Amino acid sequence: MLVLGIESSCDETGIALYDSEAGLLSHALHSQVAMHAEYGGVVPELASRDHIRRVVPLLREALVRSGRQLAEVDAVAYTRGPGLSGALLVGCAFAEALALSIGKPTIPVHHLEGHLLSPLLSSTPPSFPFVALLVSGGHTQLMRVTGVGEYELLGETLDDAAGEAFDKSAKMLGLPYPGGALLSKLAEQGDPEKYSLPRPMLHSGDLSFSFSGLKTAVLTLVREQGESLTESFKADAARAFQEAIVEVLVKKSLKAMKQTGLKQLVVAGGVGANKQLRATLDREAKRKQFRVYYPELEFCTDNGAMIALAGCLRLQSGTPAKEAGSFAVQPRWPLMEMSATAQ
Ligand code: KG4
Ligand code: ZN
Repeated sequence: MLVLGIESSCDETGIALYDSEAGLLSHALHSQVAMHAEYGGVVPELASRDHIRRVVPLLREALVRSGRQLAEVDAVAYTRGPGLSGALLVGCAFAEALALSIGKPTIPVHHLEGHLLSPLLSSTPPSFPFVALLVSGGHTQLMRVTGVGEYELLGETLDDAAGEAFDKSAKMLGLPYPGGALLSKLAEQGDPEKYSLPRPMLHSGDLSFSFSGLKTAVLTLVREQGESLTESFKADAARAFQEAIVEVLVKKSLKAMKQTGLKQLVVAGGVGANKQLRATLDREAKRKQFRVYYPELEFCTDNGAMIALAGCLRLQSGTPAKEAGSFAVQPRWPLMEMSATAQ
């Protein structure tokens, strides 16, 4: 089965071809980061317009690289939500029209399910069941994943997502959008002992997270510095922030492993690219004797490959494809609605 995947939920346009036998054949991606950087964040209207400009050239690129023809595609998968409504509408309208034109069905995909399943794209994939730590710009969740569409929410953030906390803290330190990766780079030069920031809900006894207090602590630290921030202050503050957030993410993940008794942890979403998070989890996994799986770095952030993969796995697990032509997007869409095992 050959599935074309289209991602357009936020500021990346991604197109990919995934074959159920051969795996990922090709993927093409355009990031709008440079365009939005000027405004310090994603401008939804600009995002939609840019998706319109990119989808056709990216489709051509993905097809050429795959060596396959459009007519060979069996189904078109696309992100139906959650995300920015205008941006979602572009990908969704394009996918439905394309599928209609080649007489093939579509399969609307949940963006987070794409992230969740993205480690299956790697050459040494995990097998079900596993615990998933989903840490993206909009979500922070721990889940027990028993199979495709079998998700049990173990805990989630009560306020800001981990990626959001990274980005907002980065902004306070004067870093350009999207600051998460830059903050993490800066943190490498920082002194871990210089400042100590709170570890919210570390001892809450459950698997919930809260990051807004940590963000406020960064703000307080910045305000205490007065007018100008020195480079060494920025690096030390970035390190303090990262030490705190990584400790919380790791401790809660360990708790989830203990609670479920599972032996595989999958880390997905943009924050999964964080080096300190990876190094700490790897160390703990060795100590506690479980395995950690990460998506390839290029599949941590938004991309078309994870959408093509999720669409293909959905079809293989019996989710019916839909007749092309009609569509709706779902900008707000809890992942648990995708779970057959949700109570
Ligand atoms: O999964 P993703 O592409 O977005 C959503 O679907 O929400 O993740 C983007 C998030 C951003 O908040 C970005 O700052 C963060 O992932 N991020 C990182 C790193 N690379 C990306 N955060 C920490 N360290 C990184 N290396
Ligand atoms: Zn995402």
